[in-house]
Amino acid sequence: MVIEEEETTSVLLHERRVFRPSAAVVEAARVKDWEAELTAGQDIEAYWAAKAGQFEWFAPWTQVLDSRDAPFYKWFVGGRTNITHNAVDRHLSTERRDRVALLYVNERGEEYRVTYAELASEVNKMANALMKLGVRKGDRVAMYLPPCVEAAVSMLACAKIGAVHSVVYAGFSVRALADRIHDANAKVLITADGTFRRGKVIDLKSVADEAVGASPSIKTTVVVRHAGNPVVSGTIGREMLYDELIEGANSECAAEPMDAEDALFILYTSGSTGMPKGVVHTTGGYMVATATTLQTVFDIHDDDVWWCTADVGWITGHSYCVYAPLLAGTTSLIYEGAPDYPEPDALWRVVERNAVTKFYTAPTTIRHLMRFGEKWPQGCDLSSLKILGSVGEPINPEAWVWYYEHVGGLRCPIMDTWWQTETGCFMISPLPVSALKPGSATKPLPGIEADVMDLDGKPVPPGRGGLLVIKTPWPSMLRTLYNNPDRYKKTYWEQIPGGIYVSGDIARKDEDGYFWIQGRADDVLKIAGHRIGTSEIESAFVSHPAVSEAAVIGTPDPIRGEVIKAFIILKEGYAETPELVKELRKHVRHELGPIAVIGAIVFTATLPKTRSGKIMRRVLKARELGIDVGDVSTLIET
Ligand code: WT7
Repeated sequence: MVIEEEETTSVLLHERRVFRPSAAVVEAARVKDWEAELTAGQDIEAYWAAKAGQFEWFAPWTQVLDSRDAPFYKWFVGGRTNITHNAVDRHLSTERRDRVALLYVNERGEEYRVTYAELASEVNKMANALMKLGVRKGDRVAMYLPPCVEAAVSMLACAKIGAVHSVVYAGFSVRALADRIHDANAKVLITADGTFRRGKVIDLKSVADEAVGASPSIKTTVVVRHAGNPVVSGTIGREMLYDELIEGANSECAAEPMDAEDALFILYTSGSTGMPKGVVHTTGGYMVATATTLQTVFDIHDDDVWWCTADVGWITGHSYCVYAPLLAGTTSLIYEGAPDYPEPDALWRVVERNAVTKFYTAPTTIRHLMRFGEKWPQGCDLSSLKILGSVGEPINPEAWVWYYEHVGGLRCPIMDTWWQTETGCFMISPLPVSALKPGSATKPLPGIEADVMDLDGKPVPPGRGGLLVIKTPWPSMLRTLYNNPDRYKKTYWEQIPGGIYVSGDIARKDEDGYFWIQGRADDVLKIAGHRIGTSEIESAFVSHPAVSEAAVIGTPDPIRGEVIKAFIILKEGYAETPELVKELRKHVRHELGPIAVIGAIVFTATLPKTRSGKIMRRVLKARELGIDVGDVSTLIET
């Protein structure tokens, strides 16, 4: 791992503006004093135990944190609960019962509302239906679904009976889906006929069929009729329609009493090398930390209309479209479609129409919409908005200020939340009353201890770049990598010994203790906020018959943050033609799905390597950016 001051640093170093909360923001905030709240969170176990008390536990925990088998930490030891019981059923005896739990809206202007009472009944039907299909506690259920109510219902239904869901983003390719089904050994796949995107219906079923064809573990495929695409049976006898499956199913279903440490879900994410990592989250700690952080950071109340624009297929969708908002008893808006279709004000129209109060999106979306000009947000009534949020990559100060001015009307603080698939919940983020610096995620939340260290585990002084680490366990941390506890230990806990979690990001702290995240320290790219490993992209290139060797780096892109630049050595007998470039683009897109956005493909005769033959991507990157290559004493070109 190399620690380099990325070129983004120089821009951020000059960012000196501070935005203080207005009297109105302080007045409305549940937490008035940021520093006092941070101090209260210093007793980590006491802080999280107090937060856990808001939920219903079937059996109390006997110990908050057990570190004996570190890094296989356990939280709320001995406690028994059920996250669906807490996210749905718990509200039925309160006035939340008839409030809207999920508000589904799509780019075609269709919308429908599901109350907590209705959601409870749908979830129970699906839970019973899954049981009927032979799904039992601990079994894995894969999902390949658009953002829709059925996706949330299916996740909650799994959790209700103790099945472990593995949601695969519906933009992933056949191979990515099949690999993930295989790794998790999933029994059932839930998919849909299609998804709406930019005026078209994208077929999901044919991708699912092809993946199921290569997945002997799948006993049944359940198909949601969602987009009006004709459903052609791909696997006769092993396929059921979602609506027929739950029709007549019992709408009562007892919640499985889960151990706090029983697995809740697996979510695959890219690492530096090889097959994506199956991040495992468990029940009790995930429930407590996701809900608490949403309440603290976005000051969520029952009457909020909360909109997180992420897809359910990512951790942001799991934690903050589904679990946390329902645990908090608020209304969660689920949107399906493109942010600029039919017009570049698509999102702002949804805010206006539904009086959205808290809006959470990614910097890439803001930068994309900025291009169309401020007339689009200005043409909508956005006065319902109170707090804005950002996630997925560092937000550049220009985008921050545009968002603040034209979306938030200079009124709404922006919560720049740093976290990861692995952390489950926000880790570094302001609260509404914090003094904000555009481009900084500010400070670790109460109950979280983060720092910036060098490779020896020594804290680095303010202003210097280093590894972003978490120094103490937190309730919603990943517990392991599925089927690969060694990779879990090596990737996160062994780079710096002594119980220090290494996030894979580079950051620096300023004199005020504010954190400035500068990007990944490993071979992972962030394209439009989506994580993808260079090795996955390289193996997709190499799987093409013309390619002998491939090296991939990320190059800066004004909207997506980063895009792929590929250096390719061809096999003998293949010519460097524009047609081949086109074909390679198509091939990689087919192998990996549309998240792999290729900026450029260049052919080369040699690549910089170490003496042992490892490609030195940092040399390619330094040359690309015209910066100092650093120590290259081991470099050879072959
Ligand atoms: C990586 C995690 C967890 C949310 C979605 C992405 C980058 C995330 C920020 C932020 C700067 C950020 C980091 C991190 N990242 N949020 N606010 N500021 N960088 O989840 O796919 O697991 O990616 O996203 O590099 O390691 P993910």
